[in-house]
Amino acid sequence: MRYLTFALGKGRLAAQTMKLFEQVGITCEEMKDEKTRKLIFVNEELKLKFFLSKGPDVPTYVEYGAADVGIVGKDTILEEGRRMYEVLDLGYGKCRMCVCGPESAKELLKHQELIRVATKYPHIAKEYFYNQRHQTVEIIKLNGSIELAPIVGLSEVIVDIVETGSTLKENGLQVLEEICPLSARMVVNQVSMKMENERIGKIINDLKAVL
Ligand code: PRP
Repeated sequence: MRYLTFALGKGRLAAQTMKLFEQVGITCEEMKDEKTRKLIFVNEELKLKFFLSKGPDVPTYVEYGAADVGIVGKDTILEEGRRMYEVLDLGYGKCRMCVCGPESAKELLKHQELIRVATKYPHIAKEYFYNQRHQTVEIIKLNGSIELAPIVGLSEVIVDIVETGSTLKENGLQVLEEICPLSARMVVNQVSMKMENERIGKIINDLKAVL
């Protein structure tokens, strides 16, 4: 039997995923050691391998077949646009992709003004403004702390993830428009889905039963 390889987005998502996997008998003792610097973890008995990567790299590993299965946020799936199957909504990591900004930006959106949009998600922002809103905007890519942009005058609005809304609130910003709901998803390599249909299909069904 060949190894089935899982790519997990580093951090909270990975911890929640392993907790869920335990409920269907998929375990990895090696991964529980918080001090480890290991990059790849094995369950010899079940012939499974797990590795942690930066979230946006998960779809890359899955598309190329370096991982058979990936666990990643819907935001990353939409942004990366990789060829793979999205097979399951895992229900955790729930949040929303939104256009946010100060109250004053409402008018700029309403009148389709040529505004600047700062975001970690340029593809999602472009798709939303150009194809859904039919509004021409200038998109500025940032790598984090996106809420800073409208505060310091880099952009009029941002496209970003909102979970509790407290980052916005504490910085005098608000949700102006909702783009889509987000949560953690399971994705599968297209060839693996055929070649390992039985094993992967069983995992999907077991997970569905506990979700
Ligand atoms: C995310 C997101 C918001 C924040 C939203 O940032 O970009 O900044 O969480 O959460 P809230 O609605 O509960 O306040 P993250 O912490 O992932 O880091 P980043 O700013 O570097 O992207």
